[in-house]
Amino acid sequence: MTTPPVCNYEGADYQQSFWEQGGREYEDRAEAIALKRMLPKSGKLMLELGAGAGRNTSRYAGFERIVLLDYSTTQLAQAQARLGHSDKYIYVAADIYRLPFLDGLFDSATMIRALHHMADATKALSQIRNVLQPNAVFILEFANKLNLKSILRYWLGQQDWNPFTLEPVEFVHLNFDFHPQAIRNWLGELGFSIEKILTVSHFRLGLLKRLVPAKMLAALDGLFQPTGALWQFTPSVFLKAKVKGQSQNIEIPLMVIDMFKCPDCGSGRLQDKREHFLCPICQSRWAVNDGIYDFREKMK
Ligand SMILES: C[S@@+](CC[C@H](N)C(=O)[O-])C[C@H]1O[C@@H](n2cnc3c(N)ncnc32)[C@H](O)[C@@H]1O
Repeated sequence: MTTPPVCNYEGADYQQSFWEQGGREYEDRAEAIALKRMLPKSGKLMLELGAGAGRNTSRYAGFERIVLLDYSTTQLAQAQARLGHSDKYIYVAADIYRLPFLDGLFDSATMIRALHHMADATKALSQIRNVLQPNAVFILEFANKLNLKSILRYWLGQQDWNPFTLEPVEFVHLNFDFHPQAIRNWLGELGFSIEKILTVSHFRLGLLKRLVPAKMLAALDGLFQPTGALWQFTPSVFLKAKVKGQSQNIEIPLMVIDMFKCPDCGSGRLQDKREHFLCPICQSRWAVNDGIYDFREKMK
């Protein structure tokens, strides 16, 4: 099966350079406010897609277990260093376009700052839909092409792409902005209902960020976030969706191996061979290294 290209963060110092030293305390705090407003109080099994170094993971504390999924093993190793090794966290290296989980496994999922790397967003979203239970919550952050700055730049003739049209725009290689209406359409077609929309990062302006303390600016952002129900002109939008259907009280497997399926043939009966998982149907072997289950490429 061919899949779209992956924006590779292997070896990247994203967490340090972008968040810790990149002057983004305001954005981080504003996201925390939005997440708090959208997250269920508790849950059994959460899937964090494109988890990176686990910046948001401790915000999902109400969940019994959390699967951190990322294509980059170095990002996952940083998440492990932050969160530690425990039964609560399960670290999985895999491609969002080829998820290695049983259908209908998770009662919740988040995808924050990762859709913007998806060249085929609908393919990614349909993979996610497959692994969610009926009535599961999906919290999605996406980069909004219809933001005020891009509208002004377009009107002033400083930008050639049109922020008002529905197709995604690739502003840098493998970095995409999306139209809010397109996201709503795709989610609707996949059987989600939209529960809530919050606009985030209203004040992402260098001067404001320098003048106003991050905590205060984020609190102000929090006051404006609910206007997302009416219109969305911020660079970042958070959306809470639910899979249509009644919850079915599905049992979560106790053993981690029973959560997976072979991403090559789809068989759900993997065998634990200690340093790898074996698919008895297609004989693919999937590595297990330092507590990271690696489903990117089968072992040679
Ligand atoms: C911008 S970072 C965001 C990390 C984290 N969600 C946060 O907000 O701090 C995007 C993450 O998505 C991951 N990613 C990109 N494409 C992916 C794919 N196809 N499958 C799995 N992870 C992917 C990258 O490795 C990276 O860690």
